[in-house]
Amino acid sequence: MPCINTPMSRKIVAGNWKMNLHKEEAHALISEITGMLNDEVNSEKKVILFPPFLYIGAAVQLCHGDHRISIGGQNCSDKSNGAYTGEISAGMLKSIGCKYVLIGHSERRSYFQETDLLLAEKTNVALKNLLHPVYCIGETLDQRNSGDHFDVIRKQITKGLFHLNSIEFEKCLIAYEPVWAIGTGLTATSAQAQEMHAYIRDLIRNKYGNEIAENSTILYGGSCNDQNAEELFQQPDVDGGLIGGASLKSRSFINIIKALP
Ligand code: PGA
Repeated sequence: MPCINTPMSRKIVAGNWKMNLHKEEAHALISEITGMLNDEVNSEKKVILFPPFLYIGAAVQLCHGDHRISIGGQNCSDKSNGAYTGEISAGMLKSIGCKYVLIGHSERRSYFQETDLLLAEKTNVALKNLLHPVYCIGETLDQRNSGDHFDVIRKQITKGLFHLNSIEFEKCLIAYEPVWAIGTGLTATSAQAQEMHAYIRDLIRNKYGNEIAENSTILYGGSCNDQNAEELFQQPDVDGGLIGGASLKSRSFINIIKALP
């Protein structure tokens, strides 16, 4: 596969806007974020925005002046191109300036029946098109309550990512998002997040070795907000957050960015 640069720093805050905001609202939010980042945050923080597809072109333009912000797609097709009405390819995302793509968000897994096998294909096509996949994994409440959560996570990551060689794997980021915490206001405790992130890093270490494990970015997602971000981000294996609801308001999103050590 062609070569792309590995992300330099492990620490990232990403905003997943999901299917929210109309055009003017989206443009206003981007302008507020770039303005506040400029005025209030003078250190090097890495930020990724995942707007709906329609606003990606404008987001790339509006963020052009700030090298700290990258843009990504919330999804891509597992196919490279062709007669797939309504689909968006990884190559299209790359061609309009995306650097990242979310793969396997739990809403895609549950509402659109996306399996780990399909997600492995999406990861391949994203990498082929020089995008960094942000591979999302997470257990349901039932799975956690029955003590299966480590097993579920191990299977998701093994089936979706561990077919990659180490050069390919290094281009990927992981987002651990317990399904029971997404959009519910129930955040994993910092201890629960750290426990799972350390487990994920151990899986990576066993498969790809210590150096790749230590350089891997593992984001936490699920009701992360400006009240709990600081404590979550202080955990040694939590490298930042994938933020849904709280990324739709510039004030809370900027506060979360500021909480990144
Ligand atoms: P939330 O969503 O922050 O609204 O819980 C996170 C996500 O789904 O990525």
